[in-house]
Formats: sequence, structure tokens, C-alpha cells
Amino acid sequence: MTLSSGTYAFENCNGYIDTDFSIDDLLLNASYPGTKPGVVVASPSRRDPDYFFHWVRDAALVMDSMLQLNLKTLDANVKIRTKKILQDYVVFSRENQITPTLTGLGEPKFNVDGTAFNGPWGRPQNDGPALRANILISLYFHAKDFELSEKLLGEMILTDLDYVVKEWKNPSFDYWEEVKGLHFVNFMAYARALDRGQEVIRRLGVSARPYRDAYLEIQDSLRKFWDPNKQIVVATLDRVEGVDYKHSGIDVATIIGSLYNESHARQFGPTSPQMQNTVLKMIDGFENMYPINHNSNLATAIGRYPEDKYDGHGFGEGHPWFLATHYTAEYFYRLGIDYNNAGKIEITEQNLEFFKRFTSFNEPQIIESDDDRFAMLLAEFAAHGDAFMARTQEHIGRNGHISEQYSRYNGYMRGAERLTWSYASQLTAVWAQERLSNIIRK
Ligand code: NOJ
Ligand code: NOJ
Repeated sequence: MTLSSGTYAFENCNGYIDTDFSIDDLLLNASYPGTKPGVVVASPSRRDPDYFFHWVRDAALVMDSMLQLNLKTLDANVKIRTKKILQDYVVFSRENQITPTLTGLGEPKFNVDGTAFNGPWGRPQNDGPALRANILISLYFHAKDFELSEKLLGEMILTDLDYVVKEWKNPSFDYWEEVKGLHFVNFMAYARALDRGQEVIRRLGVSARPYRDAYLEIQDSLRKFWDPNKQIVVATLDRVEGVDYKHSGIDVATIIGSLYNESHARQFGPTSPQMQNTVLKMIDGFENMYPINHNSNLATAIGRYPEDKYDGHGFGEGHPWFLATHYTAEYFYRLGIDYNNAGKIEITEQNLEFFKRFTSFNEPQIIESDDDRFAMLLAEFAAHGDAFMARTQEHIGRNGHISEQYSRYNGYMRGAERLTWSYASQLTAVWAQERLSNIIRK
């Protein structure tokens, strides 16, 4: 079968996922009609819930996908549109950086005309500047192709990195805007931005010292998130404010954080035994929690965290989320990709449970890349990724629109409709699957 450019073959999902729907909606939510160019609305939904704002976090993550899409697409029209959106995003983000707000650069969201949002909110959210720096760094390396000013990008990156250096030790609200404290995923985002930013800092001729020092200290502090009693990497330490019922410490944000480790020089990447144990406990937690997971041959539906009460409109009962399930799929693809980069797979007492649960291997051993079983293991990880993608396909409507959540009881979509981040997370997972498939096919 010949697949059109946006269609990817999958083991499950009726054999394929057509990404064209997600690409259409993703493009539509950027510079949405009635907003300033470069704005990314979290969702077009204006009431119950009102998501018609530019969130710094959502926008930065969406722009990561936008850039990948631009680099991958064979469709000239998509190429032009994504380029324009990225250019406008840079201009709009500069405006955000210099707009006076209640918490300066830690401000979580802006009105769609670019003015500060001054209503009550969980603030600051310090992941924003780190995630924004990350996409700006990527754009810096493509500045010529995008006709962007290296000088402007350099200044913007420094502004955000300076904020990270100044603020990383201070409590901030988490990805879910509910708990003020120190968060694993934030630390991973800070470390990645500072690490990737080094080259930009060097080219700008600024002293690298303060950034390097902060990076090393963050790296060192990350170890504290491993909880030896729970045997997981916990989401938050030193909570000072916000919801107080997240007792398990399990949170998909932690798995998202592990995906920010793109280099073996850093800890807590997907292949780390600690992260593998965390993923195992997270999946088991959600498996037992949601009725749609019971007696189902689909992969486990994944939510934000087990104690979640946000139902997409108000506070009641939490539900699985599309983006949480997509990132879990991406985690399994990344396992395969990262093990391939490492050239060997080590099964030890530390991660044996994980391998027993998710692979056909049940003894400690080292499998080198020239062993036939190496490719077999990668294929087993890929199949898990595909199963999580098939899980969300099951709940996405025929028109391809994707909301924020799907019901824990019947799988129907709920919460903010056409959530931009849902599309972005589906696309990055599909592209990770593509990378892993290419490795396996070789
Ligand atoms: C409560 C949710 O738990 C939180 O994640 C969300 O950001 C806000 N409501 C705003 O929608
Ligand atoms: C609620 C989510 O918890 C938060 O992460 C997100 O930024 C907003 N919704 C907007 O999508």
C-alpha cells in the first residue's frame, strides 16, 4: 500500500495513523483568527474551559513540533505556513519577554492580544522560559533558513537563560499549574536549556561560567528526586503551596522530563533504571485506576497523575489525557532509539522488573547490538509505543479532532476541545516511531 506523505504505518491503529488531521488543527491553532500573529491558543475553547490564551509552556512545546514539521514536510504549502508561524512566534515571544507582568518572565500565560494576563493564577511557572529558550536555541541554528536575526535570537535566549540561572532554586508552579515547589520536569528542562545553550553563549562571547555552574548544580540536585522508599523518581520536592493530595509522587510530567535528556552525559534519560521503575509504577497505577483499562486489550490509558481531580471543566474525578498517553508511547520509542545509540542493553537487578513486564527477557544480562536479540528487543519497545498510540486512536473521533482528556469510564473525549498540545504530542510520538522503525529495518 502506498501511503500519502502524512501517513505512517503502525503495527496497530488499523495499520496506520494519518497525521494530516493533527497537522491541520495544529496549524489552525497557531495565529488563530482574532489573535496576534505568533499566538498559540491552548485550545480554541473560550468557555468551560476558557483556554483561549497563549501559554508559554504549551506554545514552546508546540513550536518544537512546528519546527520538526517544517523540516520534514514535503508539502510546499505547509513549509511556507510553518515558517511564517515560527517567525511570528519569535516576534510575539520577544513581546512577551519585555511586557511588564506580575511575575516577570515566569508568567504562565498571556492574553491573545499580547497583553499581560493579570487575573489570579498559579504563578510563577518557571518551566516557561526554559522551554522557550530550548526552541529559540533550535531556531538560532536555523536562523538563516528562517530569515531570523541571530542577534535578536541570541538576546532572547540569554534573557531566558539568565532567568533560569537566577530562579532555578526557587519554588514555582508545576506543569499542571497546581503545586508550588521544585519539580523534576522543570529541572530537566532547565538542564537541557543550559546545556544546549552553551554553543549560543560561546558565539555571543559571553562568559559561560554562570550558566555552566548552574547546569552542574542542577545536575547534582536532580539526584534528590529519586525516592529510595517509593523506588520512583518523584515529581515534586519541597512543596510550599497548592494541592496537597499528590501522595504517590507519580506523575507523567516526570516521564516527559526524561525525554528532555537527549544526551547520555545527563542522568535520568529513558534508559536509566530509575526511570524505568518509575514508568512501570506509573503504568500499573493508571492500569488499576481507570475502568476503561479493565478487561481491555488496548494499552493502558494514562493520565497526568493518579490523584488528579481536574476533569477538564472543574474539579471532580481525573481522567486519562491524550498528551500523557502520547508521551508514554514516545517514551518507549525513545528507549529503543537511546539503546541503539548506546550500542547495548543492560538488564540488571535494578531494572529486571521493567524488562519482565514489558519484554520477553527475564534474566539479568547484557545484550550487545550485534546480537540478534538486540533488534528483537527494540521491536518489543516499538510495539509498546504503537499500543499506546492505538489507545489514543481508539478515542479520537473520525474527524481527527483531539480534546484534552478522554473519559475514564467510556473513553469519550472531554475537556478542552482541539487542544493544541494534544496534536503536538501525537506528532512528536509518531516521528519518534518513524526514527525507531528506520533503525529496526536496517
Ligand atoms: C485546573 C487544572 O488542574 C490545571 O491543570 C489547569 O491548568 C487549570 N485548572 C486551568 O485550566
Ligand atoms: C492545563 C494543563 O494542566 C497545563 O499544563 C496547560 O498549560 C493548560 N491546561 C493549557 O493547555
